[in-house]
Amino acid sequence: MSVNEAISRLTEEQANQEAQQLRTKLKQWATEYYTYDNPSVEDSEYDATYQQLVELETAFPTIIVPDSPTQAVGDNTLPEFTKVRHEFQMLSLGDVFSTTELSEFIQRLITQGVKPEFNCELKIDGLAISLRYENGLLVQGSTRGNGQIGEDITKNLKTIPSIPQKLTKPIDIEVRGECYMPKSSFVKLNEQRQADGLEPFANPRNAAAGSLRQLDAKVTAKRKLSTFMYNVADYSDLQATTQSELLAELATLGFQINDTYAVVDDMDDIDAFISKYQEQRDDLSYGIDGIVIKVNDLATQMSLGNTVKVPRWAIAYKFPPEEAETIVRDIEWTIGRTGVVTPTAIMDPVTLAGTTVARASLHNPDYLIQKDIRIGDTVKLHKAGDIIPEISAYIASKRPADSQVYVIPDICPSCGSELVHLDEEVALRCINPKCPAQLTEGLAHFASRDAMNIDGLGPKIIQQLFDKQLVNDVAGLYTLSFDNLITLNKFGEKSANNLLTAINNSRSNSLERLLYGLGIRHVGAKAARLIAQHFGSMAAIMAASADEIALIDTMGEVIADSVVTYFKTIEAQALIVALDEVGVNMNYLGPTSAKLAATDSSFNGKRVVLTGKLQAFSRATATEWLENHGAQVSSSVSKKTDLVIAGADAGSKYTKAQELGIEIWDESRFEATMNSEE
Ligand code: IVH
Repeated sequence: MSVNEAISRLTEEQANQEAQQLRTKLKQWATEYYTYDNPSVEDSEYDATYQQLVELETAFPTIIVPDSPTQAVGDNTLPEFTKVRHEFQMLSLGDVFSTTELSEFIQRLITQGVKPEFNCELKIDGLAISLRYENGLLVQGSTRGNGQIGEDITKNLKTIPSIPQKLTKPIDIEVRGECYMPKSSFVKLNEQRQADGLEPFANPRNAAAGSLRQLDAKVTAKRKLSTFMYNVADYSDLQATTQSELLAELATLGFQINDTYAVVDDMDDIDAFISKYQEQRDDLSYGIDGIVIKVNDLATQMSLGNTVKVPRWAIAYKFPPEEAETIVRDIEWTIGRTGVVTPTAIMDPVTLAGTTVARASLHNPDYLIQKDIRIGDTVKLHKAGDIIPEISAYIASKRPADSQVYVIPDICPSCGSELVHLDEEVALRCINPKCPAQLTEGLAHFASRDAMNIDGLGPKIIQQLFDKQLVNDVAGLYTLSFDNLITLNKFGEKSANNLLTAINNSRSNSLERLLYGLGIRHVGAKAARLIAQHFGSMAAIMAASADEIALIDTMGEVIADSVVTYFKTIEAQALIVALDEVGVNMNYLGPTSAKLAATDSSFNGKRVVLTGKLQAFSRATATEWLENHGAQVSSSVSKKTDLVIAGADAGSKYTKAQELGIEIWDESRFEATMNSEE
């Protein structure tokens, strides 16, 4: 019996009940997804449930209620943000899931007399944003919210490099598009979150949304977000008469657009565009979840208009979820350097979206319990955010009769000590500082490139050094002899000598490498560099209070507390003494100011003028910082000026810069860029 047949057998009351249940589910999922950026089901499950509701409501129109998810978008805004009323509603898109449905949509338009000219675009997996410019200057940026009312996230959006603060023309315009997180940043962010014991983001869209909807714009600035703009609220000030021209015009105004678009005139070409990008999807550096097909002529778009929620002139073709089935053979627990214990499902290898997959992270015990995954289960796999293999669910009908609930270990698989949850963490941790698994991971980190950079000291060698009890902490590396190393498996004279030299050379590294190499929670390579630079020596860092550390630019309390807590432990103090005794350098040897970053800096070689009153720092500090980052700071604006940074009450220099069409930043953008470049 087909779904439609099943529906036609329902009484109106049954249909009503069923619809109510679907609505409750959909509303909860939408809140998790849109408001909290933390979905509990796959997009495809949401889409399928939504379709079921559409079918029920189509068969029984009397059961439709105004607050049904098919009729209205719920309130997706967080109370912490100021609300913005969109003067022009921010629409969503209708979805289709097959080319047959898509062809019907296109055919309907053609029968209505629409000229068959369509612009095909990629459907970016991000979140919709709106940017309002007055006189060519960015005045407000917001989220979609429910389409009528969104959240004011101006400060956060100003930290995104692809968003122009000033357009190439002084026009009033409201531009819409997508803010997204590139796949590589998404993977890195999730790895970091996992190491910090935090829940990973489900996909780049949720990661982007979570990063944008931050009260602290500094957090957003660090998250490497980007944008593609594709729409405007009102065309009257523009030259474009088609969607494809609009994209080109947006690019000339200074926006980043996605240039993978094509104007086509029949269903065959639409199909070809879909197939091409469905295939290339995994190779793109950002996530896409479908193709958007838009009537190209803007006047026709206007005359077709919108339904309550979606335009009649555009539709989204959603890619089918790429899935595979396989069997879970084991659940492996690995201990990270910070003691976080992570479960991984070991499965029969299968091909999924072009790659062979045999392992999938189960993130943390809560996740494993919630999904109720057991050894022997047949599971459905997908790629989260197009990249990371993840188990969607087990297949109930294929669960063996003798299946047992998986028991979460309560002792560390490496050292046998009791596992704990710290604070509110979802992660399970081994807190034994002598745990061999943590120590080997810690040693690998110590030797890694950004830390002590000891070439040739990989995980296999480290494991052997531990197993043979030649080393039991990082200081032990420095007492290794040639005779010790030659006993290692596959180690000849040459490799032993090379490793000894690499270890020896690392003694004279500058302090920031050692500080990072210690693996103090929350202290990344950049933070380590700033702390080392500020205090100059290990002794000074160990004597510093959390307040003193937190005073360093961009440092914050979390890092400061973590440093102080670390050095308070007797183990850490003993380790530093031991490292000192074996001759590891304890002083900062780099440049004393931020000069190191000059060549990497976006300010390098630029002529910059400061004007107006800066709130956060003095003119002298800003000048020094800019000069250290390779800029030339001058006092008057001329044609040669590259950038004007304008504080409060900026006067004639500001006006002159505007006349000359020179890029103007406000203080918050400057601050955000400083923070992101440190
Ligand atoms: S057009 C009235 N074009 O998909 C214009 N939307 O599922 C409506 N999206 O809310 C949007 N890429 O956030 C359009 N090339 C694209 C898009 C796109 C991604 C998002 C957008 C929209 C959602 C609907």
